[in-house]
Amino acid sequence: MSFAAATSTTKAALRICSANAVRGHRFLIQQRSSFSTFTPLFASSRLPKALEARIEKDIEGIKEAGTFKHERIITSPQRSSISVNMPGKSSAGAPDQVINFCANNYLGLADHPDVVYRAHQYLDTWGNGLSSVRFICGTQSIHKELEDQISKFYGYEDTILYASCFDANAGIFEVLLNENDAIISDSLNHASIIDGVRLCKAKRFRYNNCDMADLEAKLKEADQAGAKVKMIATDGVFSMDGKIAPLPQICDLAEKYDALVFVDDCHATGFLGPNGKGSGEYWGVMDRIHVVNSTLGKALGGASGGYTTGNANLVSLLRNKSRPYLFSNSLAPSVVGAAAAALDLVASPDGTANLLPQLRENTQFFRKTLTDAGFTLKGDDHPIVPVMLGDARLASQFADEMLQRGIYVIGFSYPVVPKGQARIRVQLSAAHSMDQVKQATDAFIEVGKKLKVIN
Ligand SMILES: Cc1ncc(COP(=O)(O)O)c(C=O)c1O
Repeated sequence: MSFAAATSTTKAALRICSANAVRGHRFLIQQRSSFSTFTPLFASSRLPKALEARIEKDIEGIKEAGTFKHERIITSPQRSSISVNMPGKSSAGAPDQVINFCANNYLGLADHPDVVYRAHQYLDTWGNGLSSVRFICGTQSIHKELEDQISKFYGYEDTILYASCFDANAGIFEVLLNENDAIISDSLNHASIIDGVRLCKAKRFRYNNCDMADLEAKLKEADQAGAKVKMIATDGVFSMDGKIAPLPQICDLAEKYDALVFVDDCHATGFLGPNGKGSGEYWGVMDRIHVVNSTLGKALGGASGGYTTGNANLVSLLRNKSRPYLFSNSLAPSVVGAAAAALDLVASPDGTANLLPQLRENTQFFRKTLTDAGFTLKGDDHPIVPVMLGDARLASQFADEMLQRGIYVIGFSYPVVPKGQARIRVQLSAAHSMDQVKQATDAFIEVGKKLKVIN
């Protein structure tokens, strides 16, 4: 649904919202200038000397490796075209209004009028926050409604909300698996799965990314080690590669070896598959997946929040034992409202009627144009498009050149991706117009020729 199609009620409410947003923005600018002149009251030299020396050495090491992260400050809402405050010499001369190709805003819902409106509505009706974890006095009817809405969206029995998908991943494995069990995890799984697995006592097996022969070998090893319960854990889509996990084969192996299938679908929820239900729907295997963890912080409005959805007893056990759920605050009502509105858009036949085809068209055009121009791309038919460059410094120089042309993309290098596989990861959105996508492909081709990546 476009801005033009938003209801008149929404539009009227938005006028009020945007007036408030402008006031808020002015306030923010005042705040920012006061931050920039801020003088700390307490000296950092109070750190123990050994720790201070270690921190300095670590920072030096990161800088020498060329991987120190400088955060660019966005001074507009998150959307396809953003204004950015860009400190640093690599940004000198770059326009401050750039087309944004590095957010997970796949459907462009991060500033969609319905989403923003519902967030305001819930804020006004339900307050700013719960000042509590869920099980003490932090569950409002809106939390239960959102959990039901997510369960219905998938067709699964029950859902539990978390403050983030990172928390959902941190909180699931140790509850479900013990030292008699086995977790068999893809080597490229997200950091939060790796951390969650570290917290659990199950025997750990790691199979090479999407390598089904290796997965089968690890399932056999787990059996030989006497594992009672086996769980296969995979990202639905691998975020650095734009690669979609081969779920039909994973489910076949799971059934052959009587294992559970866990999918982290953060980079698929809302837009992959005919109805945006994710990688399970894309492959037609939703009924063969036991548990899905995902985020509300990417396609579904882009704020924050995560969830586990699946079997009712499994969810019930998580409510009783999952530590990030038990010991962390409830989701803020405005965030719940925004996610509910985003899901309504995704689940209604005309809500994303234009968005899903637009996202697919943008993705296909971008992939085809760059492939035809001679670039090497990774991944499947997915809006994450890694443009492979190999060398870390080349990737960072390439990104700087793109910025000079008003295209905001990021270069990724080791340790985020394997050594020698530096890349620029482009993320398409339904919010990009075809004209914006063309500006990006033109800039890629110009810079690619200048830096001799293509002829
Ligand atoms: C595959 C994957 N899982 C989990 C997460 C964490 O999601 P959240 O931002 O909701 O904590 C991310 C976020 O980058 C992700 O890409």
